[in-house]
Amino acid sequence: MIELQQVSKTFRTGSQAVHALHPTDLQVREGAVIGLLGFSGAGKSTLLRLINRLEEPSSGSVRVGGVDLVGLSQRDLRQARQQIGMIFQQFNLLSSRTALENVMFSLEVAGIDAASRRTRARDALAAVGLSDKEHAHPAQLSGGQKQRVAIARALATNPRILLCDEATSALDPHTALSILRLLKQLNRERGMTMVLVTHDIKVASYLCEQSVVLEKGRVVDRIDMQSAAPQSLLGRFFFETAKGWTDSTVLPQEDA
Ligand SMILES: Nc1ncnc2c1ncn2[C@@H]1O[C@H](COP(=O)(O)OP(=O)(O)OP(=O)(O)O)[C@@H](O)[C@H]1O
Ligand SMILES: [Mg+2]
Repeated sequence: MIELQQVSKTFRTGSQAVHALHPTDLQVREGAVIGLLGFSGAGKSTLLRLINRLEEPSSGSVRVGGVDLVGLSQRDLRQARQQIGMIFQQFNLLSSRTALENVMFSLEVAGIDAASRRTRARDALAAVGLSDKEHAHPAQLSGGQKQRVAIARALATNPRILLCDEATSALDPHTALSILRLLKQLNRERGMTMVLVTHDIKVASYLCEQSVVLEKGRVVDRIDMQSAAPQSLLGRFFFETAKGWTDSTVLPQEDA
């Protein structure tokens, strides 16, 4: 479903070059849920954003559902993006619009005809259990409810892939788990393929079959979550943190 080959990203600001992602391969089969783990600045968001071409790759190819996104015109890209939904840590809702209007707006951007937008937006809100909040503005919603609106917005175009960037990091554990359960349900019932950025091994363990560990823009581990046998120091550290921190917890990058 997703195939990145030797994809890299270098940001250039003035004379400075930041190698956010060195050439990287990533394959995600249809219906799989994959985690991207790593510390702050490791390149997780960059890698995720390369999948829907929110970032232009500096090199390499990005194929989604068999289509090479790199060569597409803006118009074809907009069409291709309909099969890729995305949610964020800070929800990114439009504050001046109601829940329903937020979802309808994404359908408008996707070029869905006006007549069917309202029905589709209502269906999407119902799917995340928020039918009673259609007319609420984001400020009147809790964090968990805002993330549900964001998920409804992502679902409304009926995507086959959902990209999640720290989607539960701003939520308390109870609310986070309810969102993760919703994501698991979407994966099981719709066969939705997911790529999930997180720094929380609990999130990856709950949802993902495989986790890719990034460090300074490079993949340093690919962990099968069932066997939970990380090969790298960093991978092991993530599993250690799930047990809680002690004074003897070894930091993988003492120099960081
Ligand atoms: N638009 C940009 N311009 C310049 N540098 C950038 C840009 N976006 C990201 N970077 C740099 O690329 C590197 C990777 O950033 P990225 O946002 O992918 O990290 P991350 O793993 O998602 O971190 P976090 O967990 O803090 O969100 C960082 O060094 C960052 O400063
Ligand atoms: Mg990030």
